Amino acid sequence: MQNAHITGWGMSAPEGILTNDDISKIVETNDQWIRERTGIHQRHIARDDQFPSTLAVEAAVKALTVANLRPTDVDLIICATSSPEYIFPATACLVQDQLGASKAGAFDLSAACTGFIYALNMGAQSIRSGSIKSALIIGTETLSRFINWKDRSTCILFGDGDGAFVLQGSDQPGGVLSAIMHSDGSGGDLLTIQAGGSRYPATDATIHEGKHFIQMDGNEVFRFATRVMASATREALDAANLKLEDVRWIIPHQANIRIIQAAARGLKLPMDRFIVNLENYGNTSTASIPMAMVEAIEKGQIEKGDKLVMVGFGAGLTWGALAAEWTGPIPSKKHVSASQYRRFARLRSSVRRFLRFVEGLLYRREL
Ligand code: ACO
Repeated sequence: MQNAHITGWGMSAPEGILTNDDISKIVETNDQWIRERTGIHQRHIARDDQFPSTLAVEAAVKALTVANLRPTDVDLIICATSSPEYIFPATACLVQDQLGASKAGAFDLSAACTGFIYALNMGAQSIRSGSIKSALIIGTETLSRFINWKDRSTCILFGDGDGAFVLQGSDQPGGVLSAIMHSDGSGGDLLTIQAGGSRYPATDATIHEGKHFIQMDGNEVFRFATRVMASATREALDAANLKLEDVRWIIPHQANIRIIQAAARGLKLPMDRFIVNLENYGNTSTASIPMAMVEAIEKGQIEKGDKLVMVGFGAGLTWGALAAEWTGPIPSKKHVSASQYRRFARLRSSVRRFLRFVEGLLYRREL
């Protein structure tokens, strides 16, 4: 059985920044309140022409370059997202096309902010079972499109961004060691975007009632989050036969610094064992864990041989944790450039569309 290693990583954040002071000009709030109650200083907001797939492709190209893989080497793309571009097609298929990952299966995974942990586990299990050799696991969001800018309890929290990992099979020990996934649908109403699905399709009334925006019972979500972060971390460690002392880093979902501090107290760990970057990005949902991890890798904080736990929670309710040993890229002699490759992807996509058109004409003539 092959181990699933994280061999490539990349992130992408839109250039547009919205500070707490900017938000205080939109709703009744202030920088001090937001910093003290959440730890957030600013968040990145996508331009109108930036979508989850746009950010995902940028991050994926970086991840593939680190892993020294071509897009055509990828067997599977999983996009965890809470803000998919469409109900269908899947955002993962848009990414597959834009990358030119012509041999990959692609699907979206919806488990809110826990989605990246679920997706990483699915990718790792597919590698361990032998059904694939490599996967691109992406957490990508433009949740700003679902924010009610009149609701000060939610509009301060969320930001846009993307983090992507390449997973590859190897006999080398390490990589993903264990994962646990949980859900409790009885808390589904605590955090929702109600309309736009088949229960409340878009109508004038759903728009008028603001049902297309994020609605949240912040206090209940806070209580739930503080309850599960420490327990999920311990469960993932037990499943990997590891002790807390073995672990160098905890990479938590970046929702609120007070939730992370509560997890630290629950685990009796100092805060310097937690990777935190929420002050710069806010809560980027599925992208928050990989973005925090990519920054830590690039700063040299996470080193070869480090054991770590990623832990998250989100709407659903969902929560989960994944333990891994960081091994870095698998050494490879060949050198490939994913960005060069991508330049041909648009052309190939257009040619495919044209061929489908010609096929359609021939088919109609045959009839
Ligand atoms: N600025 C100023 N005052 C505010 C703001 C604001 N932005 N928001 C709320 N307040 C006020 C409230 O009206 C309230 O005033 P009152 O006492 O006069 O009634 C007071 O501040 C306290 O409100 P609380 O809601 O109790 O504030 P709290 O400290 O709990 O912080 C928060 C609210 C930040 C939303 C917190 O509950 C939280 O972070 N919850 C978890 C949210 C979360 O993590 N969601 C994402 C889940 S992941 C996913 O799947 C997307």
